[in-house]
Amino acid sequence: MIKKKSTPNHVAIIMDGNGRWALKNGKTRKAGHRAGSKNVMSIIEAACEEGIKYITLYAFSTENWKRPEDEKKALFNLLSEFYKKEIDRLIKNNILIKHIGDISKFPKQTQNIIRETEEKTSALSENTKITVIIALNYGTYDEVKRGLIKFYEDVKSDKIDISSIEETTILNYLDTKEIPNPDLLIRTSGEYRISNFLLLQIAYTELYFTDTLWPDFSKEEFTKAIDSYTKRERRYGGISS
Ligand code: FPP
Repeated sequence: MIKKKSTPNHVAIIMDGNGRWALKNGKTRKAGHRAGSKNVMSIIEAACEEGIKYITLYAFSTENWKRPEDEKKALFNLLSEFYKKEIDRLIKNNILIKHIGDISKFPKQTQNIIRETEEKTSALSENTKITVIIALNYGTYDEVKRGLIKFYEDVKSDKIDISSIEETTILNYLDTKEIPNPDLLIRTSGEYRISNFLLLQIAYTELYFTDTLWPDFSKEEFTKAIDSYTKRERRYGGISS
């Protein structure tokens, strides 16, 4: 594996278009999500091959609760299936799994398997090849709400002194506190929105949009997105050096 000069350290993906893929292929939405789920491991592998250290995948947003019951159930089942099927491969390949978002509203069985996978792969932290962060019942507004409650508790119990607050203090109260901010954000399916995803963490992230629907987003397409990133100049509000 050759690490390109400016390979992104952290790539975040909004995996969009499962429903339209299903429509296009004369299948049910459930089948669309199944096809999307199948693609997840392949893109994780591609990220490993590119030398990327963190990948965050938006699998269920706080707004996705508005979907029909049977679709949500299918998504929870797919998640459980994914972890059950892939756990051995994740461990064998030193892939660490983490989650962001509030999973307490998920069915108990799904919560258990999510926690189990996180625990089993956390033993790998010494020798991690890539950290995969799955965003589940995640949305920035909810993340900030939970962070503010924690912050208030820390101020009340004198764990934090208001006068020592810095610009970046808020980052310590987010679900991503131990994770570097994304360098590249990809959204599939031709939608040009961020949809409540990592809004505070992507202040200086490069954005990449593609018309390809998530189940069709191949390793080659992923490499194309990384290549586009490597050609960009990041100035963080400064000027070219
Ligand atoms: C967006 O497509 C996709 C989702 C809301 C769910 C993403 C879930 C997966 C890819 C499968 C499970 C994930 C893992 C990590 C195993 P959409 O339904 O909004 O598509 P549409 O806009 O075309 O209707």
